[in-house]
Amino acid sequence: MNAPFNPKQQTRNPFAAYVCDDNSSELLKPLVFELGWAPESVSKGGLRGAVQSLSVSASPTILFVDLADSADPLADVNSLAEVCEPGTIVIAAGNTNDVRLYRELLNSGIQDYLLKPFTADQIRDSLAQAQMMLMGPRHGMIAEDAIHLMTAVIGVRGGVGASTVASSLAWLMGENGGHSTALLDLDVHFGTGALSLDLEPGRGLTDAIDNPARIDGLFLERALVKANDKLSVLSAEAPINNPIITDGGAYFQLQEEMKGAFECTVVDVPRGMMVQHPHLFHDVQSVVLVVDLTLAATRDTIRILAWLKNNAPQAGVLVVANRVHPSLTEISRKDFENSIEREIDFMLPYDHKQAVNAAKLGKPVAEAGKTSKLGQGLAQISEKLLALVSDDPTGGESKKKASLLDELSAIFATKSKIAKK
Ligand SMILES: Nc1ncnc2c1ncn2[C@@H]1O[C@H](COP(=O)(O)OP(=O)(O)O)[C@@H](O)[C@H]1O
Ligand SMILES: [Mg+2]
Repeated sequence: MNAPFNPKQQTRNPFAAYVCDDNSSELLKPLVFELGWAPESVSKGGLRGAVQSLSVSASPTILFVDLADSADPLADVNSLAEVCEPGTIVIAAGNTNDVRLYRELLNSGIQDYLLKPFTADQIRDSLAQAQMMLMGPRHGMIAEDAIHLMTAVIGVRGGVGASTVASSLAWLMGENGGHSTALLDLDVHFGTGALSLDLEPGRGLTDAIDNPARIDGLFLERALVKANDKLSVLSAEAPINNPIITDGGAYFQLQEEMKGAFECTVVDVPRGMMVQHPHLFHDVQSVVLVVDLTLAATRDTIRILAWLKNNAPQAGVLVVANRVHPSLTEISRKDFENSIEREIDFMLPYDHKQAVNAAKLGKPVAEAGKTSKLGQGLAQISEKLLALVSDDPTGGESKKKASLLDELSAIFATKSKIAKK
């Protein structure tokens, strides 16, 4: 009784709709009633009404909002995000038939967009999908506890140290971040993920490729090799007399299972695999592109960055120059950056001693050379990546954004799963 008045602290209604015209409202009311919700939850006022009302009351679990009155739907949807609590599933409707707008709306976290005039069946479908999202095991837990960070590491060419970086980052996410982490080494014939950690790779990955239908949580548990309490590895030394025949379904399925079973996944993706199986990048939140300061790397960095823009527009990309030697680089940092038209995010020094020592000990460089410049650089990269999903790296503002982002990736995960079926 004595608690300070806080209008936002009410229980959430399951549903609210803000429409612009009588037709929509008449169509919606019986459907809402069918689903056991109050017909009064459908009101007029469109997007402006929604923003006004939600700024002083708790947001519903599912929100239907009519954008017909909105001059700038995208900006308005963003203002809606400011007053909506994370976890709200938003279905929008409008008169604009424009694929670009549709995609941008989905990108900003909208679950579905219905073109007006919509039919009862369309709304029914859309509401059913929203309810399915709610029942999905991940929903609602995403922002608070079940983080998942999927990072792909690509070497712009062989030998730049991508696998070295990948195993170190995976180890750091477990050790420094305290997150259960999987290292998925997709270099099926020549992978070094297990080797560099002094482990036997086992048959897990090759079995998975031979028989993707078997991949489930239990399979993962058996197939992965534990490096320590927090880090598990899936890697292979597949016989080199047989080519690998796969449509990539197994890799996708592995990623999916790992998302459920671990907090972080680091995928070591050989460059050629990226070309063969672009879908490997659909769900990654971040990409670490490992480069060296050479002419060939400059050309391919430009090409891969452009590829990522098209094939993984959702992912944050870090450019990491590795094996940087003060006098032995072909190209200066400045020239490299000018050519790729962006900055290098991290520079990791060439350190032969640490590389050899780590190999000898069978430990990731980040562990064996913890205090070296190379080790510290790697630790900084993992911190930067974890900041993407952890609570609050940049002060209060980012929390809401982060959870919207999580919502979004969950939505895309579901969508792509549905699309694949
Ligand atoms: N910063 C570094 N300094 C010195 N040697 C390195 C460094 N990073 C990686 N190496 C070495 O370079 C070689 C290639 O690394 P690897 O990670 O297998 O490359 P990739 O996966 O890109 O082909 C390995 O012998 C590794 O120990
Ligand atoms: Mg490699």
